[in-house]
Amino acid sequence: MCGITGYVGVKDATPVLINALKKLEYRGYDSAGIAVFDGQEILVRKSKGALKFLEQKLAKEIIRGSIGIGHTRWATHGEPSDINSHPHTDVSGSIAVVHNGIIENYVSLREKLEKKGFAFKSQTDTEVAAHLIHFYYEGNLLEAVSKALKDISGSYALAVLCDKQPDVIVAARKDSPLVIGTAKNEQFLASDVTALLEYTRDVYYVDDNEIVEIKKDSVKFYDNDLEPITKQTSHIDWDIDSAEKCGYEHFMLKEIHEQPAALRQTLSPRITKEKKIDISEIASDEILRSTERIVITACGTAYHAGIVGKYVIEHFARIPVDIDIASEFRYREPIFNPKNLFIIISQSGETADTLAAMRMAKKCGARIIAITNVAGSTLAREADAFMHTNGGPEIAVASTKAFTTQLMCLYLIALKLAELKGTISEENLSKAIKELETISAKAEIVLQDKKTIQKFASRTFNKKKAFFIGRLADYAISMESALKLKEINYTHSEAFAAGELKHGPIALIDTDTLVVAICTQRALFEKMDSNIKEVKARGASVLCITYENEHFFDDSADAVVHIPETFDEFTPLLSIIPSQLYAYYCSVQRSLDPDKPRNLAKSVTVE
Ligand code: AGP
Repeated sequence: MCGITGYVGVKDATPVLINALKKLEYRGYDSAGIAVFDGQEILVRKSKGALKFLEQKLAKEIIRGSIGIGHTRWATHGEPSDINSHPHTDVSGSIAVVHNGIIENYVSLREKLEKKGFAFKSQTDTEVAAHLIHFYYEGNLLEAVSKALKDISGSYALAVLCDKQPDVIVAARKDSPLVIGTAKNEQFLASDVTALLEYTRDVYYVDDNEIVEIKKDSVKFYDNDLEPITKQTSHIDWDIDSAEKCGYEHFMLKEIHEQPAALRQTLSPRITKEKKIDISEIASDEILRSTERIVITACGTAYHAGIVGKYVIEHFARIPVDIDIASEFRYREPIFNPKNLFIIISQSGETADTLAAMRMAKKCGARIIAITNVAGSTLAREADAFMHTNGGPEIAVASTKAFTTQLMCLYLIALKLAELKGTISEENLSKAIKELETISAKAEIVLQDKKTIQKFASRTFNKKKAFFIGRLADYAISMESALKLKEINYTHSEAFAAGELKHGPIALIDTDTLVVAICTQRALFEKMDSNIKEVKARGASVLCITYENEHFFDDSADAVVHIPETFDEFTPLLSIIPSQLYAYYCSVQRSLDPDKPRNLAKSVTVE
């Protein structure tokens, strides 16, 4: 999704803006641009394609000044092109705007403005904001932006520059993330903190319907009616290294390798000295004990974590769990009562559909527990309670460590509920906790032997179809595995509940099909072996993921990858890792960039 940034201070703004845009690249974009006030006028440089093209332009057409705004665009209205790139200006070039989000009523606003004589250059929704602000400008940019926003419906994080007030940036937010970084004599703004970390760790999270006036030495917050708001800064305590590649070729590979540490960070603070689970951050024991039903909602990878969550909560705590995709849930008519818990999962905490689902559940009176990786995110702030996955920043578009840490949170919730509901014996609970404490070391072991996967990827990366099959938790992992391969290798990959093969999908199997069979549910080994034999007999190449020292599938599969022994319920924490690596190596074999897959954005902040 689009990334926005801004700078006002004492430095040369151009390198600061470009630097911040580089940090936002991971969000996905197809063009980029900046606007800087050079002492006389606002100069705009923009370019279709990668940031390097904008940098090349800037090398020839240098702009210097200490205030500016920048943008990486992920096209929604109008094709990716120089003209449609942001910043957009009013006709006189005196106001420049960058915007992340969608102005839903832009057609009617555009018609009205055109009737008043405003000439449009681009096909974007954003350009109406530049003209509207010009229309309302009477010597005070803050007031003009506030008036313009009253006409706009939709979502936005925007930043505005005006040559008549060249010491100020006005920014505003509704349903799109925005943070302001503050330091002595300089202020920064961006779509997320990773873009600011190099300069400051003190940030303000802008809330919906807030307008901010940013000057070199002040940051002032207002509501829609320009009533002042007092806000506190938050201090970011994670290390900048966590947002850098640290010697790995790609962020995705680094993040796959960070899983053992991330899992430890998720688990350890929630296990007491007495080896009990403490997740009091999400609800009191009383609330958890009285929970009669749980609803889990999320998108993409987080949704797959939710499916595992359903299995384990129902298995350990015997509480019925419904799971839904957020973009579906928000348009249904779900039924809640106060004894229902609503668990909402999101790495970024900013996904538009997920936020909409949460707000809807809140209106229905459910208690909202957010599992997210971003402490200051909208989700974390709006939910009744928030469970931090503690995974550190995830930059690669394809989620890896976010998934396993979300799983760890769900295991903790399942076991705590089981303890409180009395559906697990003390002995079994302590065995389960002990086992969870070994998972991080076991994840290290999975990561030590990558040769089989690398070799298999080099032989099969260009298969036309890939099917992932499994049963129970292995089926959920099949879905997540298929998504990984789809996202970064552009292979048509699908997950099937292995038992469903015969009901249709087996018709698709031929010699150009890869089948990855995830086989960690011991009671179902024989069934899975039959499925493998069925697809092998029809020409598929088969990779099997199962336990170490397990030879059950040696004769049926073409290659077998092992994960260490653990409880069948906990295997998702380990069995996803070979699939993540497989997708990564396939993508590298094809010379694709696994960190920035085509058409995808890290944080999907529009519907
Ligand atoms: C994961 O690999 C995907 N990029 C995507 O499915 C993602 O999980 C989804 O967009 C939800 O994002 P969130 O967790 O930030 O809400």
